[in-house]
Amino acid sequence: MSISTSSSSSSSKSWIVHSLLVGAAMAVAAGAYLRRGNRFRSRVVGIIPARYASSRFEGKPLVEILGKPMIQRTWERANLATMLDHVVVATDDEKIATCCRGFGADVIMTSESCRNGTERCNEALQKLKKKYDVVVNIQGDEPLIEPEIIDGIVKALQAAPDAVFSTAVTSLAPEDAFDPNRVKCVVDNSGYAIYFSRGLIPYNKSGKVNPKFPYLLHLGIQSFDTKFLKIYPELPPTPLQLEEDLEQLKVLENGYKMKVIKVDHNAHGVDTPEDVEKIERYMRERNLS
Ligand SMILES: *[C@@H]1O[C@H](CO)[C@@H](O)[C@H](O)[C@H]1NC(C)=O
Ligand SMILES: *[C@@H]1O[C@H](CO)[C@@H](O)[C@H](O)[C@H]1NC(C)=O
Repeated sequence: MSISTSSSSSSSKSWIVHSLLVGAAMAVAAGAYLRRGNRFRSRVVGIIPARYASSRFEGKPLVEILGKPMIQRTWERANLATMLDHVVVATDDEKIATCCRGFGADVIMTSESCRNGTERCNEALQKLKKKYDVVVNIQGDEPLIEPEIIDGIVKALQAAPDAVFSTAVTSLAPEDAFDPNRVKCVVDNSGYAIYFSRGLIPYNKSGKVNPKFPYLLHLGIQSFDTKFLKIYPELPPTPLQLEEDLEQLKVLENGYKMKVIKVDHNAHGVDTPEDVEKIERYMRERNLS
């Protein structure tokens, strides 16, 4: 995989040029921190939220993928990221905790009342002894997540002091265009998110997928400024968030900025037992172990 830095489309080009200019301005802003010998938002923790009970797939984090628990695969990938000072698993489940300690992970026990991964990250963050500036929420069901993507979103958040949140997108496969489980994203010229939708955005007036348009698929990984993460759960649900059932829209609807990086990544999220077979086939074909 590679973080894409060039593209043939003119819109992406101006996004990159713009990013460079904004980046330069931010570098000046961040200079104050640099002079003090610290990078802006330099202390970073990766949290892998994992729960046992799941409506769609009971015990999902512990399912074996080519003989290794999925959560271990995610954890090993996260450990290869160079921007993380620390990686922890946050869970409410003893079986998951025991498994993770067994392969050497740090585990934070969180309460069963956490309604979702963001809440679990937040609770884990409060329980950590050290202070962090950035939290990366690493989904346990993306066992092939590239460490470069983790590093990429952390760097993006460090380089964009006006953003509170960063995340990644990749090219949308045409067959996923009308799949509501594949979330689409549109960004502005500087790579800040404008909107996320389960519908196809932008929508071509022909009603069909435009083969020439570079549609973007949202990947689940996200990183937050920890100050923002504290207020995020307290913000009341917003109309677009509720209508699309997309948590991240609450960030945008409240006027906060979200930085998006474009990466090359074949999404292999594991949501159902059938997905396990798919990912195993994919890994065998590529000699991944
Ligand atoms: C819509 O998609 C077609 C290709 O299917 C493309 O030629 C056209 O420029 C797109 N936009 C509009 C406004 O029709
Ligand atoms: C997750 O929980 C927080 C409350 O802590 C809420 O604001 C957010 O909308 C929830 N997201 C989902 C997808 O339920």
